[in-house]
Amino acid sequence: MAYSWFKAFHIIGFVVWFAGLFYLVRLFIYHVEANQEPEPARTILKNQYQIMEKRLYNIITTPGMLVTVAMAIGLLSTEPDVLKEGWLHIKLVFVTLLIGYHHYCSRLMKKLAVDECRWNSQQLRALNEAPTVMLMVIVLLAVFKNNLPTDTTVWVIFASIILMAVTIQLYAKKRKRDKEKLTAELAQVAQEQVS
Ligand code: HEM
Repeated sequence: MAYSWFKAFHIIGFVVWFAGLFYLVRLFIYHVEANQEPEPARTILKNQYQIMEKRLYNIITTPGMLVTVAMAIGLLSTEPDVLKEGWLHIKLVFVTLLIGYHHYCSRLMKKLAVDECRWNSQQLRALNEAPTVMLMVIVLLAVFKNNLPTDTTVWVIFASIILMAVTIQLYAKKRKRDKEKLTAELAQVAQEQVS
């Protein structure tokens, strides 16, 4: 019974953790893009994003991670034999990467707060795909365990997810290019009207 409770809250924990991780980097993207706005909008937007990022990280994302890990410890102490399973060792490698990503987001947040972040919005969009891959691998390992299928179906799922991520990146790039083109055209029209 205790095992099922731990598992239920383990799942609730990682849903909260991932919701926080995905939204956090999306806020970083808006934060970086606010640099293109004229003053005073730029400062107002950046201050607002900074507050939202801090709250999201401290109130949602980090507690989500702590609940996931605490419940995982509960699961392992109830069924210590699971520790001998190969799938868990691989899963732990990916969870370690995920915790590293979580801490890297905290570093980015601090750099954004003092205007020292070197990532542009396009790079941040690509970075936001990293947890998607980790989520997929970790959940597949947790569900299939040592019988993780490696047949065509899995490769088709992987390829579809990569394709989706690449399409999102290309679409964002196109939207940015269109916006820049429109801004340049408007500036030219304004220039022509002045002269
Ligand atoms: C802190 C490291 C983690 C450890 C030590 C751990 C360990 C475990 C263990 C022992 C189970 C029970 C397996 C079973 O009885 O079927 C489990 C279940 C599960 N874990 Fe984790 N886990 C960790 C992190 C995560 C993360 C980050 C995710 C999601 C991205 C995740 C997703 C799942 C899922 C979906 C299940 C349910 C699998 C099922 O019932 O079929 N785990 N985990």
